[in-house]
Amino acid sequence: MSQARNNTKRNNSKNNKSNPPEHELELTQHAGLGMNNAKLDELAPNIEDSAGEFLTTDQGIRINDNQNSLKAGDRGPTLMEDFMFREKITHFDHERIPERVVHARGSGAHGYFQVYEPMSDLTRAHFLQDPSVQTPVFVRFSTVAGSRGSTDLARDVRGFAVKFYTEEGNFDLVGNNIPVFFIQDAIKFPDVIHAVKPEPHNEIPQAASAHDTFWDFISLFPESMHMVMWVMSDRAIPRSYRMMEGFGVHTFRLINARGKARFVKFHWKPLLGLHAVVWDEAQKISGKDPDFHRRDLWEAIENGDYPEWELCVQVVEERDEHSFDFDLLDPTKIIPEELVPVRRIGRMTLNRNPENFFAETEQVAFHVGNIVPGIDFTNDPLLQGRLFSYLDTQLTRLGGPNFHEIPINRPVAPVHNNQRDGFMRQTINRGQTAYDPNSLRGGCPFQAGVDMSGFASYAERIDAQKIRQRSASFFDHFSQATLFYRSQSPVEQNHIVRALRFELGKVGTPPIRERMLALLAQVDTDLANRVAAGLGASVPKKLDKPLNLSVPADADPRKFQPKKLAEEMEPSPRLRMIDNPNFTLKTIKTRKIAFLVADGFDDRSVADMKLALMKAGAQVMTVAPRLGVLTGVEGDTLNADFTFLTGASVLFDACFVPNGQASVAALQNEPEAANFLREAHQHCKAIAAHGAGAELLESAGLGESMSDAGLIIGRDGNAAALAEDFIVSIARHRHWEREPML
Ligand code: HEM
Repeated sequence: MSQARNNTKRNNSKNNKSNPPEHELELTQHAGLGMNNAKLDELAPNIEDSAGEFLTTDQGIRINDNQNSLKAGDRGPTLMEDFMFREKITHFDHERIPERVVHARGSGAHGYFQVYEPMSDLTRAHFLQDPSVQTPVFVRFSTVAGSRGSTDLARDVRGFAVKFYTEEGNFDLVGNNIPVFFIQDAIKFPDVIHAVKPEPHNEIPQAASAHDTFWDFISLFPESMHMVMWVMSDRAIPRSYRMMEGFGVHTFRLINARGKARFVKFHWKPLLGLHAVVWDEAQKISGKDPDFHRRDLWEAIENGDYPEWELCVQVVEERDEHSFDFDLLDPTKIIPEELVPVRRIGRMTLNRNPENFFAETEQVAFHVGNIVPGIDFTNDPLLQGRLFSYLDTQLTRLGGPNFHEIPINRPVAPVHNNQRDGFMRQTINRGQTAYDPNSLRGGCPFQAGVDMSGFASYAERIDAQKIRQRSASFFDHFSQATLFYRSQSPVEQNHIVRALRFELGKVGTPPIRERMLALLAQVDTDLANRVAAGLGASVPKKLDKPLNLSVPADADPRKFQPKKLAEEMEPSPRLRMIDNPNFTLKTIKTRKIAFLVADGFDDRSVADMKLALMKAGAQVMTVAPRLGVLTGVEGDTLNADFTFLTGASVLFDACFVPNGQASVAALQNEPEAANFLREAHQHCKAIAAHGAGAELLESAGLGESMSDAGLIIGRDGNAAALAEDFIVSIARHRHWEREPML
């Protein structure tokens, strides 16, 4: 244990008498959930709880009047001497810190990771050896382009950053929900980010890629085409953070105790499957509840529906490094799972919300450079650039070199070194020496041998010239974009076409649209033609000039043209979201179902359906013409959770209209009830109606759709008889056959 932590603990116990403070009890009780979370225990002394305490200044002086500043007379000027006023305002004035330059908008949670079986064949990383060990984690999900207060439902990549607090130090897997990236070389990162961020002259648009500068850059940068396919797909508008994959993106190395290295790609597979919303829905959610994903994660954890992912690896032997059609070091490429299967090696469970958003989610500092023995980097030029960027940016964002001492960033492994001083230093380093080697302190702290968990970089052989150039093996920019597009189901392809029509439709400069159509034609001609039809444009026959600007001026241009290795590729169903063979479990667990009700509902109809849905793990919420208590014909009561003003169909996964003449009549007088149903239908959601409830569907204009799959109508019998079909329909997530093809 570091000296700093000893000190904090000592102070804390002094302040909190002999019994552990309440929050410590809470954390200890947490262990009863089957987890012994060393990081939560380590954070406990930093948690402040004001319950039953006096209000004090930062110096611990009890405050007697927090309502009035000190003045010379009751109508006189405020006095300089008012130290309580000055302290309070000064602190307030400095509450804001810079938001992250990218990924500013995010949400975090605590949890733990457990490996399924010892991974000693692949790595000596300690946290991947013992299935009984629960390694604490903190995860932050984010969007990339928007500011801190922007909507969760932007069309964007989602960050998926995991900090493992291992016994050998922190390991950060700083990934995204998309397995590739826009650029191959980190020197282009400021360019792609400047292009996607709000335009500099008028700061428009917020959290959106649908504008000229983004597509200007993309249209001149063919290496982004594979990523563009993913970002235009439904992956970029997830239903929930809990229902998306995560990827480490780069190829890393795993190294075992014998020093044998292999290449590895990391994946996270969500146990709730892969699901998205539709774009129209995403835009409406952005207005109705811009915190939709943040709220969803928070509430799931509060309800005990702990989100889970399996950590998977794709492993490639070093001798196979060059046996693919693409370069393993190129971050615009995946290794198709058909070529190298994923191995599921452990599970991560998120089971605790942060105590304080700023202290934890905002101050957490992830860094791809945080690795532990048994894991190492490769020469992927994007990864290499990232290794510089994170620590550098955090120096400014968190105000100095000591941000590793902020509680959420502290490892659970002890920290001892000769780093000293700087802004906000917490550690009180005892002793005369702060250098190595020393004799005055017996050489302490001393280096660790590899057999004592000392980190030793993988001794990769490098024999090269210093050049500013990319390998020709990086210049196939289209094969995998085509593979992705052709691997999608027709519905998902339709969504990609729609997304591109939306995005390029918002571009005001025609030559940018034309260049994009030319690039899309190199991915798939049908795709380009369909997008062009929506833009009222035609696909240019050929480009004026080669677009690849990432080649040296004096290079042979033929060698560096974007090329396409595989014309005819087998589609990879594992790239889809719909009917992806990796996600066969059909569940409605944690799905939100709206019951549209008013006074006079049929008590049995509501009770039967509610029971069946809740048994299947769904959440039932009522939407009514007014808030307060609603009464059924037989006297049962229900609390209205939402009105038609505060709730909307886009916030739910499915809806049910129960029987009850009076209830249905009241809903027929509420125009928003009909809109609710029409919108749910338009977004392809499951809808059920029982008895008189069917009349509401008819008056909403859905009479002709009554035989649609996903519309479960039962005029007679009881609601329980409908429940089974309704559950199957919700588990399908969406009934896409309703959607018009473009
Ligand atoms: C594969 C490509 C990349 C992935 C998967 C990725 C992922 C992420 C994630 C998940 C975050 C948010 C971390 C958090 O939640 O706090 C982040 C932040 C950031 N990324 Fe990246 N990134 C990538 C490429 C890059 C590159 C190439 C650079 C720069 C050369 C870069 C610079 C940054 C910076 C400066 C931050 C803000 C960090 C902070 O303020 O704490 N990223 N990135």
